[in-house]
Amino acid sequence: MKTGTWCNIPEAKLYEMIEELDTRGPRYTSYPTVPVWKAPLSPDLYAHALSRLGANNDSIAVYLHFPFCRQRCLYCGCNAHVTHDEQRMHRYMDALEIEIKRVSSMFAHRVTHSQLHLGGGTPTYVPSDRLARVLDMLIEWIPGSKLADRSVEVDPRVTTDEHLYLLAQRGFTRISAGLQDLNPDVQAAIRREYSLDQITHFIQRARAIGFTSVNIDLIYGLPRQRRDTWQETLTAVANLKPDRLACFGYAHLPARIKHQQAINDEELPSAPDRLGMLLDAHRVLGDHGYAGIGMDHFALPEDDLAVAQREGRLWRNFMGYTTTRGLELLGLGCSGISEFTSLFSQNVSNPEVYAERIEAGELPLERGHELSKDDFTTKQIINHLMCNLEIEIPDKDFDADPEFEMRMEHAMKQVAGFEPRGLVTKSGRGYRITRLGQLFVRNLAMPFDRYLNEQTSVLFSKTV
Ligand SMILES: C[S@@+](CC[C@H](N)C(=O)[O-])C[C@H]1O[C@@H](n2cnc3c(N)ncnc32)[C@H](O)[C@@H]1O
Ligand code: SF4
Repeated sequence: MKTGTWCNIPEAKLYEMIEELDTRGPRYTSYPTVPVWKAPLSPDLYAHALSRLGANNDSIAVYLHFPFCRQRCLYCGCNAHVTHDEQRMHRYMDALEIEIKRVSSMFAHRVTHSQLHLGGGTPTYVPSDRLARVLDMLIEWIPGSKLADRSVEVDPRVTTDEHLYLLAQRGFTRISAGLQDLNPDVQAAIRREYSLDQITHFIQRARAIGFTSVNIDLIYGLPRQRRDTWQETLTAVANLKPDRLACFGYAHLPARIKHQQAINDEELPSAPDRLGMLLDAHRVLGDHGYAGIGMDHFALPEDDLAVAQREGRLWRNFMGYTTTRGLELLGLGCSGISEFTSLFSQNVSNPEVYAERIEAGELPLERGHELSKDDFTTKQIINHLMCNLEIEIPDKDFDADPEFEMRMEHAMKQVAGFEPRGLVTKSGRGYRITRLGQLFVRNLAMPFDRYLNEQTSVLFSKTV
């Protein structure tokens, strides 16, 4: 079994650094992070944000959430509900269709989408005729702009050719399949079985039907995972040549996610092995020609994300990494998150509560956060840091608000404290995150987070 180095630092030494620096912290898929958002959210604020969409002829991104799955994977941290009751799914799909019409009729301008993403749960667990119906309705109410980018997350175990055809016919070209790990022992421990042959055929089918971009999700840090078997999974998956790969660190939060209690803590890899597995992903996938995108995503060098990263214009939103900065996002369905220019909002999570609220003629809003100028600027700083590995404080706002100025000065001092450890180097008026520092991007973002102290009661996953 090969073990790795990172920037010529041996794993054991790196592990010592991580022990020293590792605190639990947010993943910063948003700033301010979701635990800071407050309930209830005023429907007027949401209505105002909707009425601004399309005002400058800008298109938007749309996310639709499909919460149902055939069976529960023990590690799963998503808003997913197991059901075998078709009526339950039909009720949800009826509600989703009503929400699409209700929200679209609140637009004051013509709104088109340039990105559409279906996530879950498992969008392709929905019967194919119902899935086709909701997509046709969405495209009718929020039409696609020219070259709209459409993507779907699937559990390949339940995805039929019919699903793939209907999606391809509606312009979906990107597909993301969950795999997690190929080793049978690991698969038994997470209750999710799927062989290399099956995933190979699945990718071939998807490509033949018209998907031009395939992503595979893997997770490191799962129970019974070992470095050698994980390296085998990485090699086998890289040989399938997906365009993109995600290697998520397993977020084990059994106090919050009850079904994770069925995972035996003693079977989880040690913290040094967990770090080793992340380094394995970089080494094995790097050897197969993949570029690392952020910390845990990988793409072939000609993929849009890899190109955007090289050109310093990678960005991210709730749907993941993107090449388009500043696109407003409309999230529909239970737990759907919207990201407007100065407002975040989230729908209620439970699919039945969501359906009740829709049936009662309401907006199914749960909570949200209106961004202050400070929030907005800090969000840009954190996003730029996480995506493009640069830490810069913009001039204009720095001068405008004395409190913000003091906060930034303090944060930059903390960042400077990471320089002797080699995590950042001075660059212009700011810092550039080194390759070593990439392992600690979450730690480097934390000094800028004004809400960090408010979130101590919330359980975070490990930063590395
Ligand atoms: C929302 S799930 C949907 C995927 C689809 N239902 C499937 O099973 O293939 C998307 C991805 O989130 C990741 N994921 C889910 N729970 C996780 C956890 N606790 N820690 C890390 N990643 C997780 C998995 O890699 C999964 O493929
Ligand atoms: S990983 Fe996918 S299939 Fe498994 S429970 Fe989560 S959402 Fe459902």
